[in-house]
Amino acid sequence: MPFPESFIQELIERNDIADVVSQYVRLTKKSGQNLFGLCPFHSEKTPSFSVAPDKQIYHCFGCGKGGSVINFIMEIENLSYPDAVRFLARRVGMAVPEDEYDASASKRERMLKLNRDAARFFFAQLSEPCGAAARAYIERRGISPQMVTRFGLGAAPNEWQALTDAMLRQGYTKPELLSAGLVRASKKGDGGVYDTFRNRLMFPVIDVRGSVIGFSGRILDDGEPKYMNSPETLVYSKSHNLFALNLAKKSKLGYIILSEGNIDVVSLHQAGFDCAVASLGTSLTAEQARLISRYVNEVVIAYDGDEAGQKASQRAIGILQQLDLKVRVLRVTGAKDPDEFIKAYGPAAFENLLSKSQNHIEYRFSDVAAKHDLATDEGRVAFLKDATVLLAGLPNAVEREVYAGRAAEIAKVSKDAILREVERERKKAAGQAKKKRESEESRPLRQIQPRSRELRFDDPVSAMAEKGVLRLLCHDPTLFHGDELAEEDFSVPQFGKLYTALREQTKNGGAPSIALLQGFSGEETSLLTETVSEPFDPANADKALADYIEKIKAAKLVRMQRGENGEDTMRAFAEEQRKRKGYRG
Ligand code: UTP
Ligand code: MN
Repeated sequence: MPFPESFIQELIERNDIADVVSQYVRLTKKSGQNLFGLCPFHSEKTPSFSVAPDKQIYHCFGCGKGGSVINFIMEIENLSYPDAVRFLARRVGMAVPEDEYDASASKRERMLKLNRDAARFFFAQLSEPCGAAARAYIERRGISPQMVTRFGLGAAPNEWQALTDAMLRQGYTKPELLSAGLVRASKKGDGGVYDTFRNRLMFPVIDVRGSVIGFSGRILDDGEPKYMNSPETLVYSKSHNLFALNLAKKSKLGYIILSEGNIDVVSLHQAGFDCAVASLGTSLTAEQARLISRYVNEVVIAYDGDEAGQKASQRAIGILQQLDLKVRVLRVTGAKDPDEFIKAYGPAAFENLLSKSQNHIEYRFSDVAAKHDLATDEGRVAFLKDATVLLAGLPNAVEREVYAGRAAEIAKVSKDAILREVERERKKAAGQAKKKRESEESRPLRQIQPRSRELRFDDPVSAMAEKGVLRLLCHDPTLFHGDELAEEDFSVPQFGKLYTALREQTKNGGAPSIALLQGFSGEETSLLTETVSEPFDPANADKALADYIEKIKAAKLVRMQRGENGEDTMRAFAEEQRKRKGYRG
């Protein structure tokens, strides 16, 4: 057991789930024992996120996420299991016992220290002869010495083992360098390594806590690839971090400028826009948006002016909007990106672009308008069609009213006519949504699949029965007596694992506790909370259990007959049949 159970028990007792969740979610409604609020993990207008204080679990009926207070912290703070435990321990002033995670914690710390030393090394090379090329590049791109220091830029020498040698001298080992992604194993397979980053301008990626978690290295000419980035490591996840957020979070400007490139970010900071960040070579992710929303409630998207940039802006709008962030879009005109724009026209001109930047509705509106020739009747009709769909998608009635007025001006028709069309469109959309819901509710068994794409129910009938068994086990463990089921009987291995773990907990008369499970992923605990949250009828529980077991065993038989269980199928089949008779008799 990674953490002692008694410790986890005390931890979850002292971190009452309703208290902890309340720090992130307003729990407004009460229904029976349960509290409800708007789910922090997906966008919704009516609360389907529930907290059950008696079971000390949460579950969202909308997106399916669920688990204990520890799972909640893992999910919302983006922490590993042991780090979430430490987070909660700190919250209530508990000491964390020595555990086997200490090894992984110290690995993390060691990797962060290595990254920091590597960043120092790259920075120092800028003042050495081998840093001449990078120095010249910095000058050519007009990056000031202050920015070099502020971002901790550096030079990776044009050598195969400059960093390797320096870090080995400082006492790091080859395996440590490899797992940090700073070196690569040589193809010869002789145990040799070579530097990942060579002859590049180095940008350290620093997280909001100030730790160097990885690097981006830009090539010094027009070669390919333009950037090399750290791989995903114990400390680096590109989808969960933003370049320069460590600096931007301290900005007094009160919003964040989201750009595409590292160089854009440096340029923007140099021009006084110290709130600029960039996603790390990925398109914006929901996690990155959530990170931003911790610091500001307004974002200005300032992507490249080309078509790819505009497409990316549309995507980013969708993601940022889900978090109730105020979103504006800045169009870079007369230059390809913010960096080029500032170099060409200066900071004041960029300030002007900022003040002209449109809120996302206007932005999409002008996109729709630009698509059609408004001088012709045909074009105006086509414009109105697109505009109606756009308007119908706005959740806010005041916004619909205001922008219908705008559409009316553009197309020279009455606002009322547009609003009527918009209402018709909304009814249509609502009708479609309802149909979709109904067809989902009445979908055949074979289509019942878990929400998580990481899991599949190959045998849905059995899977439903397996869920039933877990539900009964959580609600009333006294229904279970002996070896009615074994882990191998389950068609969904995750359910089997959960069954075994929960039975283990109840063996000595204890209550099953989702909160005490360790070693299960968020997906797995979510499956379990979903299962537990389904209705439970104590009156027929024993009959239901027998029924579920029957179904699970029958399904297993079928699987065996089909030979899905590997080699000794026939022998196993015969044995199974014998056991089955025994169970029934
Ligand atoms: P850009 O090509 O726009 O780079 O890619 P840039 O930083 O603006 O550099 P300049 O101004 O063209 O010299 C935008 C971002 O996409 C990621 C990097 O994070 C880069 O900053 N990227 C780009 C990569 O990860 N790999 C690549 O090969 C290219
Ligand atoms: Mn760029």
